[in-house]
Amino acid sequence: MTATLSFLERVQQIAEALLEAERTEPVAPPRPPADMARHIAVGPLDDDDTAGRTGLTCMAGVAPGRAGLPIEDVLDALERVALATPRTGTRRFFNQLFSGRIEAAAAGEMVASLLNTSMYTYKVAGPHALIETALTQHMARHIGYAEDQGEGVFSPGGSLANLAAMIVARNQAVPDARERGLDGRRLTMYGSADCHYSITKNAGIIGLGRQNLRKVECDQRGRMKPEALEAMIVADRKAGAVPVAVIATAGTTVLGAFDPIEPIADVAGRQKVWLHVDGALGGTTLLSRRLRHLVAGSARADSWTWDAHKLMGVPLSSSVVLVRERGLLEKHFSEAAAYLFHNAETELDHGVRSIQCGRRNDALKLWASWKHFGDEGYAQRVEHLFDLAQHMAEGIERRSSLVLTCRPESVNVCFEVRGKASEGVCEALRVEQLAMVGHAEVGGRRIIRAACVNADMTFDDIDAFLDAVEDVAPHAPDGDNAL
Ligand SMILES: Cc1ncc(COP(=O)(O)O)c(C=O)c1O
Repeated sequence: MTATLSFLERVQQIAEALLEAERTEPVAPPRPPADMARHIAVGPLDDDDTAGRTGLTCMAGVAPGRAGLPIEDVLDALERVALATPRTGTRRFFNQLFSGRIEAAAAGEMVASLLNTSMYTYKVAGPHALIETALTQHMARHIGYAEDQGEGVFSPGGSLANLAAMIVARNQAVPDARERGLDGRRLTMYGSADCHYSITKNAGIIGLGRQNLRKVECDQRGRMKPEALEAMIVADRKAGAVPVAVIATAGTTVLGAFDPIEPIADVAGRQKVWLHVDGALGGTTLLSRRLRHLVAGSARADSWTWDAHKLMGVPLSSSVVLVRERGLLEKHFSEAAAYLFHNAETELDHGVRSIQCGRRNDALKLWASWKHFGDEGYAQRVEHLFDLAQHMAEGIERRSSLVLTCRPESVNVCFEVRGKASEGVCEALRVEQLAMVGHAEVGGRRIIRAACVNADMTFDDIDAFLDAVEDVAPHAPDGDNAL
């Protein structure tokens, strides 16, 4: 047996141990950091241990030591780390907007890791550059862009996909911005009051200033009000600002609400501003005939963010930024680099379209998964997620101890336990190893947000989760959740 084979066999054992732990203990035991550090520590502690010297004493044995360790010890430590990690792929994980495990996608991710491809040029990426083009073009068609329109590039997460789109929007509105900066001009962009925090953060990053990311009022269900948007743009322009873009959200982070793209596109058209749709969460509805109405008008957007690591269930991260007009990504992101880009295969040298230089291969896992399910399989999966959320909402309405915040528009279900602090309920569920779920703020109240994003879940899993909530509630602190 070669050394390489035994290394893979050991990794397989670790994977099997993890799968078994997920079955028997779907929520990993929570540990405070010092305990966790002791648990994963490996190797002799050096007298002048770097971590100890810097005062982070609990990191002793976690930081690398002066001397190296045998591979066997490291693989054993990896197993301990794996088993101590919060489990995101189980049927008790509702805490974030990603979950589950798709075999084809996991296989794609593992192969990508072994290949260690960087996605900047065809010369280095080979088939993966074709795969990236095929996927981004396929996504562009689902948005509804014409055959001769649409280009995209994978980006490390939806936040940075939004960043790329906001840079393109800024540069399109102020053509010399890329060369000369903003020169004292006050540019404004618009997102809903419920838009993701990356939009505000990005406004700070790209030189607009966070204050110039204007927050537009939402309706009761968290959808941007187009008439409020237009009034704000008009007022800002009167006050001397240069409105450049509106960012509609397809699937907001907490309520899962969909801003109405058609009327927002009408406003963007009248006001001559760029329209970006942040579909990090809800972009996948484009694949379903039943759900597409939520993103009606999709092709009217100048750009899109679409995360495959959310509702498409592929491992983090797998996000795409797409623009309608071909050539814009290269126009705003290419740089001369004679040591890298040789104008050999510009179509396939995707690095010219990206903010990054070295870029990991986030395309292969999505390709494997999409090949496996096809458009139809993915449509069914995303529809199932919506059904899970509706089922949870109905279950909450039936249980007198629980209060639904509002009917879910998509996959996030927001609710409270009557008389109990939402934060305390979440913590009790985690400590009792019953479920992981997060809390957030809606309409001046702290609510529990359960994200139904694991398409392997069944209605029974949802019922079991609600049973668990009711079981731990008596042990959770009282509270009225008003902020
Ligand atoms: C609406 C929305 N946009 C963007 C993001 C950021 O995506 P990522 O976590 O991939 O950076 C999120 C994340 O939750 C989101 O909900």
